[in-house]
Amino acid sequence: MLIIGHRGASGYAPENTVEAFKLALIQKAHGIECDVFQIEGTSSVIIHDFHLDRTTNGKGFVPDCTLTDIRRLNAGNGNKVPVLSELFECLNETTWCNLELKYIEDIHAWVDEIKRLLAAYPYIVNKLVISSFNHPWLREIANQMPTVKIAYLIAHYPLHIVKTIKEFDAFAVNVDINIINQKLVDVIHSNNQQVWVFTVNKLEDMKRCRAMGVDGIFTNYPDIALDCI
Ligand code: G3P
Ligand code: CA
Repeated sequence: MLIIGHRGASGYAPENTVEAFKLALIQKAHGIECDVFQIEGTSSVIIHDFHLDRTTNGKGFVPDCTLTDIRRLNAGNGNKVPVLSELFECLNETTWCNLELKYIEDIHAWVDEIKRLLAAYPYIVNKLVISSFNHPWLREIANQMPTVKIAYLIAHYPLHIVKTIKEFDAFAVNVDINIINQKLVDVIHSNNQQVWVFTVNKLEDMKRCRAMGVDGIFTNYPDIALDCI
């Protein structure tokens, strides 16, 4: 079972910062998950909330910020809100990287940005997974970059689970811990897709996921998860 640092090792360091990403890898996590906002319709930054207040010393609505504004802020312990290249600098060809798209104004511009970055960091593409609750964005990415791995997020049990799963030729389905069960794991596996579960912070849930044959978990505590698998 893959252990992915959720917003980095965010149980120990400020979430979605280079410090948290590096700590996850020091703890030997197999990969890093982070949240992506597109700013000014062109540039990605890594932050979770629509508002700056919880995780930075700024105030206001993230989509209203310029890149210059947001890069001036402190995201905890003196860290900046990262751009994607700062995350990619932390990775090597063996590290999984799950970019969760939270807010994209222009999906075509985002595809151009990620293509440019992948040209500069070509060794990360094999372990790159792009996920979102927004399935139309994923469809566009799959059309434009058919070799990039796609995962779609589900947080409630879909009524027509088989139809939903077959809708995408996805690499994985990323499922909320609150709805995961053996039947759902088996249905997803029977369509040759991996099952990654978020956010698994309790030891008993880590063990339950492993027993169900889940392929990967997102956790704020990679060190604890790695001890139990
Ligand atoms: O990517 C899975 C998980 O991170 C989704 O929930 O709120 O932590 O971004 P959230
Ligand atoms: Ca996330």
